[in-house]
Amino acid sequence: MSDTSPSEISRLEKTLFRLQAQHACLAYAFEAIADRPGPVVELGLGLGRTFDHLRRHLRGREIFVFDRVNKAYEDCRPDPAHLFLGEIEETLPALGERLAGRVVLANSDLGSFDRELNRRVAAMSARLLPPVMAPGGIVMSDLPLELDGFEALPLPPGAREGRYYLYRRPS
Ligand SMILES: C[S@@+](CC[C@H](N)C(=O)[O-])C[C@H]1O[C@@H](n2cnc3c(N)ncnc32)[C@H](O)[C@@H]1O
Repeated sequence: MSDTSPSEISRLEKTLFRLQAQHACLAYAFEAIADRPGPVVELGLGLGRTFDHLRRHLRGREIFVFDRVNKAYEDCRPDPAHLFLGEIEETLPALGERLAGRVVLANSDLGSFDRELNRRVAAMSARLLPPVMAPGGIVMSDLPLELDGFEALPLPPGAREGRYYLYRRPS
């Protein structure tokens, strides 16, 4: 964000609260999808921290990971068959039938401190995720998303409002 205005909370607290909220949302999502077969999508590999968490808690699930570059810690890299490098706008739709209507959990973690960029990536996720999501599927996001036909879920305990976002496609 090119946000230079003084904020009520520090950058450290922003990061802390976002990670706390993400962690709580992930715990909620793991339970919510426990009885639902289907793949998981991670938009934004970054350093691979969330991917590492996903694979440890969702053993046996297929996890499809997307980023324009692979800058993950060496021990947090997805296998090449499940890592799709390039612009998500191209790589996600290219998977077509492999994902269409099947994804039970998607984590869209594409935000930065650039407000205009955030507006654009949020619009992109809101457009590209619905075609891949299964009925009952959960979308988690670091940015608010306008997802047609999805319900916004209350955040689980431990997550502060506005630090992460949860949505579900009705079954
Ligand atoms: C906040 S980081 C992800 C953090 C990661 N989930 C983790 O736990 O380490 C955001 C990532 O999204 C990627 N990204 C943002 N917009 C993208 C786009 N349109 N296409 C591909 N990758 C994108 C960036 O390259 C960056 O690595």
